Amino acid sequence: MSTNTWNRHHVLSLADFTVSEYDTVLQTAASFREVLSRRTKKVPALQGHVVANLFFEPSTRTRSSFELAAKRLSADTLNFAASTSSLTKGETILDTAKTYLAMGTDIMVIRHREAGVPDAIASEMDRLGVHVSVLNAGDGQHEHPSQGLLDLFTITTLLDSENPRLELLKGKKIAIVGDILHSRVARSNIWSITASGAELHLAAPPTLLPKLFADCGKDRPGKLFLHWELEPALADADFVMTLRLQKERMTGHLLPSLREYHQRFGITRAKLNNCKANVKVLHPGPVNRGVEISSDLMDDPEFSLIQNQVTSGVAVRMALLYLIGSGKA
Ligand code: NCD
Repeated sequence: MSTNTWNRHHVLSLADFTVSEYDTVLQTAASFREVLSRRTKKVPALQGHVVANLFFEPSTRTRSSFELAAKRLSADTLNFAASTSSLTKGETILDTAKTYLAMGTDIMVIRHREAGVPDAIASEMDRLGVHVSVLNAGDGQHEHPSQGLLDLFTITTLLDSENPRLELLKGKKIAIVGDILHSRVARSNIWSITASGAELHLAAPPTLLPKLFADCGKDRPGKLFLHWELEPALADADFVMTLRLQKERMTGHLLPSLREYHQRFGITRAKLNNCKANVKVLHPGPVNRGVEISSDLMDDPEFSLIQNQVTSGVAVRMALLYLIGSGKA
């Protein structure tokens, strides 16, 4: 396992990830994918460690995936749900984190509807001088680094199953389509894909893709293009990533109707005709079937990598927990 390039104590964002950090995560995840294919799918790497899943916002796959990843590494896991916690009695988020710290938590996996909460808790842990790592499991519209890394693992293992690495994306065309404005998944993917030398095409109605996203491509090895219509983004694409319309984060009337949105930006088999012949489609889930992607395409294993993404998630989160928990150089 190549862990010699890992010095990170927290994983809060992919904005400053280096090529060797991406490759370390990808290679470590490939080793854990092998562990997960064994009859006994467990290793003792984090025995005695405590991993607390602090999810202040709903989640199905990310929370279960982190929990299973921690268990496969033999860590003890604590699960927290905001609605049944002392937050309802007025406790602050920092006090919740300190409560978990007092129980001996080593790694806090944090999701929150406000951007910056995992950073704030990480800073507080550092200020206290305690050796607790924080993993951002999605903060507001900011970032979702483990999702960006599992998407990267899903794509790169398809290109070279045994040796997934960032450089495999060089020269590929990847489209991200949909509610980019509200998507932390899009932001993390923008950092990883533009670090690779791929061509990244973002496509959405103008209300969901402000011009300032073009700045994310400045001084990066990959080229970033913005489109307010779908066709140029899909032409000759190798991979198409669709995103959920995040209605819970929409404050204004940003779209005329879901029907019109589906007609213009929904991904269907017919719209993939102009992509590369072996194009693959990704979606981080949860999916609004028939809105951002047609139901039949979502379930079509010839095109859809959606279930592979969920499977990859466990190996990638094992890699992250392992690297920050015990794999330091
Ligand atoms: C995403 C999230 O929560 O940011 N889902 C996920 O973690 N797999 C995307 C979304 O909610 O649309």
